[in-house]
Amino acid sequence: MIGIYFSGTGNTEYCIKKFVSVYASGSPIISIEDNSILEAINQHQEIIFAYPIYYSNLPKIVRDFIVKNHTVWYGKRIFFIATMGLFSGDGAGLGSRLMKKYGAHIIGGLHIKMPDCICDVKTLKRSIPQNRKLIKDATNKLIKAAHQLKENRPPQEGINVFYHIAGLLGQRLWFYNKTRSYTDQLHIDPNACICCGKCAGLCPMKNISIIDNRVQAHDQCTMCYRCINQCPQRAITLIGKEVIEQHRVEDFL
Ligand SMILES: Cc1cc2nc3c(=O)[nH]c(=O)nc-3n(C[C@H](O)[C@H](O)[C@H](O)COP(=O)(O)O)c2cc1C
Ligand code: SF4
Ligand code: SF4
Repeated sequence: MIGIYFSGTGNTEYCIKKFVSVYASGSPIISIEDNSILEAINQHQEIIFAYPIYYSNLPKIVRDFIVKNHTVWYGKRIFFIATMGLFSGDGAGLGSRLMKKYGAHIIGGLHIKMPDCICDVKTLKRSIPQNRKLIKDATNKLIKAAHQLKENRPPQEGINVFYHIAGLLGQRLWFYNKTRSYTDQLHIDPNACICCGKCAGLCPMKNISIIDNRVQAHDQCTMCYRCINQCPQRAITLIGKEVIEQHRVEDFL
């Protein structure tokens, strides 16, 4: 068994590590950003695949990873974990329907509510105790689901047609274009930026470069919010106009 994941800001990484530690302690857990990922997938029949939900949809980087490597999913048994700030409708179903097309066997799905990572928008901001409670509840749900999978009765959240309709009506029909392509909307404030290069090193899309001592963002942003949450100068924004509170999952553990 192998755990694979994408995590922009740490929530999903926390969740898959917790789940696998109970389900099959010691099994490998690898990010889709890791160069060894395909080789690792080829060596395992059973996969736990975790990702966050953006606009009730798959992050573009995750969708592209699945589609680009469509041949590796054939015959695999896959359990999906989708993390979200509030609601996704069919978060786990998004990955499952796509993988089914490529011949995967879907074992089940799980939806986990985690702290919101969009640090330049006020909506959904919770207090520290509320976020701590959220993670406590998430942890209990992950542990319970891992035991259920061990006992061969895995949860089926997000998988059936009712979840699909909820996902479509909940948001996706209105926001589908938000995750259809990568975005060029990342803004770096040149007055605040000290050109430390941290954002360029962190970006999973290599969407930021330093040219002539100036930091420049391009048009391949998958909206993961990693650089925005970690910039020491709070100089980066995407959806909102200023960084309100940088998200670090460790603050709530
Ligand atoms: C661009 C963007 C869009 C998001 N859209 C949704 C959404 O539609 N529904 C939801 O419940 N959470 C949404 N979220 C919140 C994330 O899914 C949630 O915080 C997730 O756990 C982040 O995981 P990560 O830390 O592993 O990146 C969104 C986050 C981002 C960055
Ligand atoms: S992390 Fe922030 S301060 Fe550092 S280069 Fe990027 S934008 Fe500038
Ligand atoms: S530019 Fe920032 S928000 Fe966009 S993909 Fe890269 S790290 Fe994520």
